[in-house]
Amino acid sequence: MSRKRQESFGGLYLSSRSSAEGGSRLYRLDDRNRAIGEMFSRIAPRYDLLNRLLSAGVDRRWRRAAVAEMTPASGGRHLDLATGTADMALEIVRQKGNAASVAGADLSVEMMRIGIGKCRKACPGVGVSFVRAPAESLPFRDAVFDSACVAFGIRNVVDRELGLAEMCRVVRPGGRVVVLEFSVPPGSVLGSLYRFYFTRVLPRIGGLLSRREAYEYLPDSVLSFPEPAEFEAMMRAAGCASVTSRPLTFGIATLYVGVR
Ligand SMILES: C[S@@+](CC[C@H](N)C(=O)[O-])C[C@H]1O[C@@H](n2cnc3c(N)ncnc32)[C@H](O)[C@@H]1O
Repeated sequence: MSRKRQESFGGLYLSSRSSAEGGSRLYRLDDRNRAIGEMFSRIAPRYDLLNRLLSAGVDRRWRRAAVAEMTPASGGRHLDLATGTADMALEIVRQKGNAASVAGADLSVEMMRIGIGKCRKACPGVGVSFVRAPAESLPFRDAVFDSACVAFGIRNVVDRELGLAEMCRVVRPGGRVVVLEFSVPPGSVLGSLYRFYFTRVLPRIGGLLSRREAYEYLPDSVLSFPEPAEFEAMMRAAGCASVTSRPLTFGIATLYVGVR
């Protein structure tokens, strides 16, 4: 994989963008980036358990659907942005086979450490690599990936427009940009139930099994995330063509696909 070493000096990250304006660009992590990364590091040990529990296992089905949208159908080079504990990276290897290579990027080393352990166990010797990098400044050259995905990560990215633009930059023309994110189901009954679950039930379970603050942050970040039509427009503005979206499980999550 053609990749420059990510340089980080006191929170400064160098993007490998080879821009028309010329050269690389520096991104400085701000306090929100740091706070979000640290929060995920604190919940890392219980993240997978809570994911399975709180979604009753449907998150696995959503990830399968998202990876099925990534091209090519087998092999290829893929970016899993905000990889966390590497569930998407593992699903990519499962679907695309051992000839695929995956780069996982995330702010939290603790989340990725768990992901590294899972990859070693599930697919030793397969090309999954990890890098600590913010979505806003990716250490990859232009157009090196066949596809890029981000699952339940884009809502945490402080500069979302820049994160999407970076995803587009590193995907080759014709490649896919795939985003899986929570959404609020349409309709007042389902919408109210969803809000109740997210604001009342989930923080309690999260507080019992992990850090409550993270599971209070989750509803805030989900409820303030743009509606699908607005997010599709953001993907187009970032450089994706033919953007489509489809609701999953009554609209609890939405799968967005764009072509670079
Ligand atoms: C909810 S987890 C999702 C993890 C994984 N993609 C999954 O499907 O389970 C969100 C991840 O986004 C990462 N993250 C948050 N802001 C980020 C940023 N600006 N750049 C890169 N990763 C970020 C967090 O560290 C965390 O691991």
